[in-house]
Amino acid sequence: MSRVLKIENLHVSVEGKPILRGVDLTLREGEVHALMGPNGSGKSTLSYALAGHPRYEITEGSVTLDGHDLVGLEADERAKAGLFLAFQYPTVIPGVTLANFLRHAVSNVRRPDRKEGEDLIAMREFRKELRDQMDELGMDQEFARRYLNDGFSGGEKKRAEILQLAMLRPAFAILDETDSGLDIDAVRIVSEGVNRVAERNHTGVLVITHYERILTYIKPSFVHILYGGRIVEEGGPELVKALESQGYDWVREKHPDAARAEDELEAAAKPHAMV
Ligand SMILES: Nc1ncnc2c1ncn2[C@@H]1O[C@H](COP(=O)(O)OP(=O)(O)OP(=O)(O)O)[C@@H](O)[C@H]1O
Ligand SMILES: [Mg+2]
Repeated sequence: MSRVLKIENLHVSVEGKPILRGVDLTLREGEVHALMGPNGSGKSTLSYALAGHPRYEITEGSVTLDGHDLVGLEADERAKAGLFLAFQYPTVIPGVTLANFLRHAVSNVRRPDRKEGEDLIAMREFRKELRDQMDELGMDQEFARRYLNDGFSGGEKKRAEILQLAMLRPAFAILDETDSGLDIDAVRIVSEGVNRVAERNHTGVLVITHYERILTYIKPSFVHILYGGRIVEEGGPELVKALESQGYDWVREKHPDAARAEDELEAAAKPHAMV
């Protein structure tokens, strides 16, 4: 059966403030999509809402994976269902090593009925797999002994996210600005990692980015532009070129309603604008 992640008419509010106003997006197995949009347009809000973050309230619409409702599930249940999110700002977990975190996460995701306290994936098997994946990503083995994201450089955080992606083999992965802060070589290494993992596991990938550069390595077949809380343009790689050369002015002109909504969002984001 071909797997599908379906977002329909999704409305999301943060602290009572509407940010997403009816997002429709369908990701199928093995497809690579890009999501672009100006700062503050709600791209990370979409990823947090998909992750089930309690501050991001879904007020309308639905998110389903293979027809099963994801809304209302706990974050770990979403992961078990096959969803993976790499956040723009990954969380630091002092005291938990990357290896230990991964061993638990892999055990939970691969054996969804595993209860807390039951056996983890066998150490030998896990070690070998971790070593192989780290080699592929050009990561030093020592790195797995460090506390998760604690003192990681920007590039190390992003590489650690791709390592998680490689180990967890999700059906769908949302990568929020995985290219931000990466040097030119690192963008290539991380992108090649994403491509390899996606191909191997038929993962459907949604890459959130501002820049064309990562999309020259991770080649999206579908590009969506989020503006004013909705996806206003959909197309192929030509949309990326249009944004790169012309910015968002043409999007505003073509979608005046969305432009108004985007202005409202921006005004609301300013802390107590001078009145
Ligand atoms: N936890 C929060 N508390 C208050 N406001 C929030 C929160 N999360 C998001 N917002 C607001 O929602 C709007 C959308 O933010 P979001 O982070 O989703 O944008 P983005 O498209 O990811 O932007 P960027 O390209 O800068 O990453 C912004 O106005 C932001 O201030
Ligand atoms: Mg963001």
